Amino acid sequence: MGQARPDHVPADLVRDFDHVFGEEFARDPFAAFEDVRRDRVFWSPHHGGYWVLTTMADIREALQRPGDFSNWPTGIPAHVSRRERMLPLELDPPDHTAYRRVLAPMFAPKAVAARTAAIGATCAQLIDSLLPKGRCDFIAEFAQPFPTTIFTNMLGLPSQESDRFVGWNNVLLHSHADPDARRDAGNEINNYLRELIAQRRAEPREDVVSALLESQVDGRAIEPDEVQNLTFMLFVAGLDTVTAALSFCFRYLAEHPGHRARLVADPDLVPSAVEELLRVHAFINPARTVTADLEFAGVRMRAGDRVLASTALASNDPDEFADPLEVRLDRTGNRHLAFGAGPHRCAGSHLARDELVTAMREWHRRIPEYAVAPGQAITVHAGGAMGIDRLELVWAVPG
Ligand code: HEM
Repeated sequence: MGQARPDHVPADLVRDFDHVFGEEFARDPFAAFEDVRRDRVFWSPHHGGYWVLTTMADIREALQRPGDFSNWPTGIPAHVSRRERMLPLELDPPDHTAYRRVLAPMFAPKAVAARTAAIGATCAQLIDSLLPKGRCDFIAEFAQPFPTTIFTNMLGLPSQESDRFVGWNNVLLHSHADPDARRDAGNEINNYLRELIAQRRAEPREDVVSALLESQVDGRAIEPDEVQNLTFMLFVAGLDTVTAALSFCFRYLAEHPGHRARLVADPDLVPSAVEELLRVHAFINPARTVTADLEFAGVRMRAGDRVLASTALASNDPDEFADPLEVRLDRTGNRHLAFGAGPHRCAGSHLARDELVTAMREWHRRIPEYAVAPGQAITVHAGGAMGIDRLELVWAVPG
């Protein structure tokens, strides 16, 4: 199992835990995380070895202390094969702050509110096209195209371009067995973005790329390469995440008709239901690297140690949430960590929430009753960003 235990790791804290390839994670990652909650912290020998924090207090604190827990390298296994760091995710403060400031106005509540009507129209159109079919491949036909169309609109591209981005996204983020295909997809996206950025430099418009090109970083004009890097990051961070959130939420509601009926009867409950479903299905597992020897969570960590700060473990912590595994659509004081914490806390959380609330409202207004297609075995992918691979839903077509 994995590699030898480093000297500073006590033997009794080693667990055979692999949140990337462990079979129990492919079956039900949230249950697999619950199984390891008995220790405050433990060591996994997989992927070169890493600490796993299990309490919300420790996870939040690690995410809030970038000086001790760096974002370079991030990822388990570590993303060190790329030459360039992804902006702003793979920088630590103070370098990180300048780029975060560039993104902030584009994803602020006011900027998102200005897009709400367009988000609603895209969503309604998509659901209307599915309704008469009585069934759909929820991920391929809704959970991917919906956020991707919003993204292409934000880039000022026609909605039809969305299909291309969905295709790239699938190869880039989901074909782990084929590194050449992933590299090619990454190159294609970057070539496309490079051309788009050149066009917007020559002829600015009212869109995200044009706004990024006008930004300042530390008192100087931003470089086109930096705009490309930031746009690529938005692509990686903003599409698959919303797809995963929609898939977990709708799977849950398809399998729990009582909760679904409550939402249909009371659409005002949707915003708090979204928070609760995000809490129980917090699917991002950030990783950090210890910068200097320190004591944390009751153990000695060494510079260079990798640390998993799972938002799933944090958001289902029984010391923070009453009956954490129970879904309460009207839960109050729901301070989950699904969007992370500290300087890297999700830059797109307002947009994500708007998309999720819109999807829940528009879907249930049109398709109040639905179920997982009979006989379907649902599989899940775990790792840094967890999600459902395939989800077929069925419903009765209105007379
Ligand atoms: C439900 C959907 C989403 C979830 C659960 C989510 C969650 C997260 C989490 C946990 C982080 C922190 C990662 C870390 O600390 O290592 C993060 C970062 C980030 N997210 Fe999201 N995200 C979502 C949607 C979005 C969307 C729609 C966008 C934008 C279009 C976005 C843009 C970003 C960016 C740019 C970062 C990096 C921030 C930084 O490093 O300062 N996310 N997200």
